[in-house]
Formats: sequence, C-alpha cells, structure tokens
Amino acid sequence: MMFVKHSKRTLRSGCKKCGKKALYWAHDTAQAGGNYCDECKTSGKWVLIDNLGSLHKCGEDNPVDPGHVEDNLPKNTDEKGADRMIEAATNTENQAQSPTGNGDAFAAFQSLIASLAPKVDRGEVAAMIKHELANVVVPTRTVVERVSGDRKIVANSHEKLADVTTDLLAGEHVLMVGPAGTGKSTIAEQAAESLDIPYYSISLSPMTPASQILGYMQAEGEYVRSLFREAYENGGVFHFDEFDNGHPSVLAVINAALANGAMAFPDQMVKRHVDFRCVASANTYGQGPDRSYVGRQQIDAATLDRFSVENIGVDEALEHSLCSATGLGKDDVSQVLDYIRRLRKRAEERAMTVVISPRASVGMCRLLAAGKTWDAAVEARVHRGMGDKDWKKLCDIY
Ligand SMILES: Nc1ncnc2c1ncn2[C@@H]1O[C@H](COP(=O)(O)OP(=O)(O)OP(=O)(O)O)[C@@H](O)[C@H]1O
Ligand SMILES: [Mg+2]
Repeated sequence: MMFVKHSKRTLRSGCKKCGKKALYWAHDTAQAGGNYCDECKTSGKWVLIDNLGSLHKCGEDNPVDPGHVEDNLPKNTDEKGADRMIEAATNTENQAQSPTGNGDAFAAFQSLIASLAPKVDRGEVAAMIKHELANVVVPTRTVVERVSGDRKIVANSHEKLADVTTDLLAGEHVLMVGPAGTGKSTIAEQAAESLDIPYYSISLSPMTPASQILGYMQAEGEYVRSLFREAYENGGVFHFDEFDNGHPSVLAVINAALANGAMAFPDQMVKRHVDFRCVASANTYGQGPDRSYVGRQQIDAATLDRFSVENIGVDEALEHSLCSATGLGKDDVSQVLDYIRRLRKRAEERAMTVVISPRASVGMCRLLAAGKTWDAAVEARVHRGMGDKDWKKLCDIY
C-alpha cells in the first residue's frame, strides 16, 4: 500500500461511520479508482488514513469498505469521474495500449480526459464574441476633471457633451443646432453642472419680451430682476432654448449683452461676470424658416458671430439606452429602434417635413411597456397629426 496524503488538515467532523477524529484524506496509489488529483499530482482510490499514515479501519479491526469511503468523499469529488476512471483503468484495451503496457492508470486517465475535452475552435469563439459585442450599445460616458480635483461623471451623456463643455471652458458661448429631441437642452444643463456653475434657462418665442431678459422697473421705482441678470452679474450658464424662435428685437438685446463687457439694465450698468456663459439651442442655423421648422426667425450675422456652433444629431447609443430604460424587453426595443430609424432615414432621403425624433422611439417603448399594442403606440407617437400623403410616403417601404 502506498498512501499519498491529500488533506493538510484532519476531517472536521471525523469519520461519518464510526466518528473517529484525526483522519486525513489520502490516495491509495496502489489501487485504481478516484479522480486524478491536480493538487497531489497522482491518482488512486480515496482512503482515510490516521495521523501515523496508516489506513483507517472503521470501528475496531474492520477493513475499509467502499461504501464507507463514498459516504465520506470530499464534496468536490466527481463520483462519475471516479467511476469512469476506474472503468478506464480496468479496461483491458486501454491496458494493452498504455505506454507501459501493464495497465498504467494514469496514462489511461490522460487519454480519457483528452477524449472528453471540448473541441474549441478559436476562430469560432472569436466570431461569437465579435457578434455579441456588435450588439452591445454603450452610450458615451463623459468625465470632467475639475481643477479642484473633483470629478463630474455623466454616465448616459450625449456624445457632444464633452465638446460643448470644452467650448464653454475655453470662454466661448455655444450655439447648438440640431433637430428636435436630440438632447440639446439636456446637454446645456449637464454642461453647467459639469462646470459647477449655476444654470438658468428660458425658452424664446416671438412673443418673449425684452423685459424677460433685462428685468423691469415697477411703477414704484423698484427693479424686478430677471434670471438673465442673475447669471450676467453673478456668473452662470444661461440657456436660450428655441433661440431661432425669438423676436429679432430680443435677439438684438442678447447680442449686445454678449458683445460688451458691461450692459445697461433698467436700474444700472452691470459688469459681466467672468463666469457668465451663454448657450443657445436652435433647430435651424438661423437662416430663417425651413421646411421642417416654419416659424423660425432669421438670426443676424453679428449675433451668430458671437457663438461657437456645435451640431447636435441623434446619438443612437444614447437613444438605445433611453429606450432600454423604459423597461421594455431587449427584442422589442430593437424592433422599435429598427422601425423608427427606417422611418427617419426615409424622411431624410425624401426631404420630408416630418420630425421623427428620439422622443418618438422612447415614447413608443414607454407605451409598449405599459401594455399598449404596436398599432396604438405607432399612432400615438409617430403617425398622430401627420397628413395621409406624408404617412403614405413615409411608410411605403413596408
Ligand atoms: N443624456 C440624457 N439622459 C437622459 N435623458 C435625456 C438625455 N438627453 C435627452 N434626454 C431626454 O430626451 C428628451 C429630449 O431631450 P431635449 O429636450 O434635451 O432635446 P432638445 O434637443 O432640446 O429638443 P427640442 O429641440 O425639442 O428642444 C427629453 O425627454 C430628455 O429628458
Ligand atoms: Mg430643447
């Protein structure tokens, strides 16, 4: 008998049959059976030995019976593997083919493992990984390192957030131009947060008066401050939403505020704060109305000249992530995105006046997740007020 001691510590609960303590697991290398042990680099039947290295005899003088050992086998022992090992070791064919020709259990075991090992094709695995990765969409993660050492991380950001933030940091005012719903207003807010300065926003319309920007004097002679005054005097990012929808006289006031280092407000002259920045967002480049945005104003060249322009298109990774966040299943989200993007492409190719923004895809996902039917979701978020002619033109691909 030749025992190779397997366990460094004694069995915690002792022998399960007779309760004897101070026993160790060992491999009886003279007997086939049991797994090949990677730790001990040997194989052989599992046995229990005492601290003197002698075979444990259950009770008084009874020899170890196989059932007894199986009862005690360590948890991670693969009994089926042990059986296969025994089978392989006792197989006469294997014995005849073993290098020593005398039933070398180890060699038999090695050939058995080799025959069981899965056949891995590297090219196949690489193609599978590539395919899986192609379906993973990760929206841009924008990290702003502040001089103070703080970090602002926007996990789900538009790919252009970093550009807009950098422009502002460089002292520029920024005009973001892009179709509806691409995330311009959100970028403005996140850029202000990233720079850690206050954020103010108003939406311009042809009816917005200059007093909403400059503030005004009450009849009693008291000045009513505006949000713009707050940002101009004390610093902050001021966002003009729908900039190309503002009245030309209001745009002229904004132009004056950006052009000079100080500005006449109704109560006094005010010096522009060093941390004052203006961000404007628009659907057009200020060239007046176009086919999709009919009510837009022309912005004069002098005003446009004050801004760095950033084009903000649909960020498809962000759109995908916003759709997934609605809770709709993965396959349904893909179906919605595929549908919306085909319509968007078709509208673009045919220079149609319809707007199919990420609001449509996110809205459809939300409605489907809430249990609405596909047709109802399309009707509510895409078809809605669209004329029959446009709808047909848009859908004839289906
Ligand atoms: N990074 C983002 N994280 C979460 N939601 C976002 C993000 N960007 C945009 N959204 C959502 O997408 C929608 C459209 O965004 P936003 O209002 O910023 O677009 P917009 O370009 O300003 O649209 P419009 O041209 O109509 O003013 C909003 O509901 C907004 O909450
Ligand atoms: Mg907006």
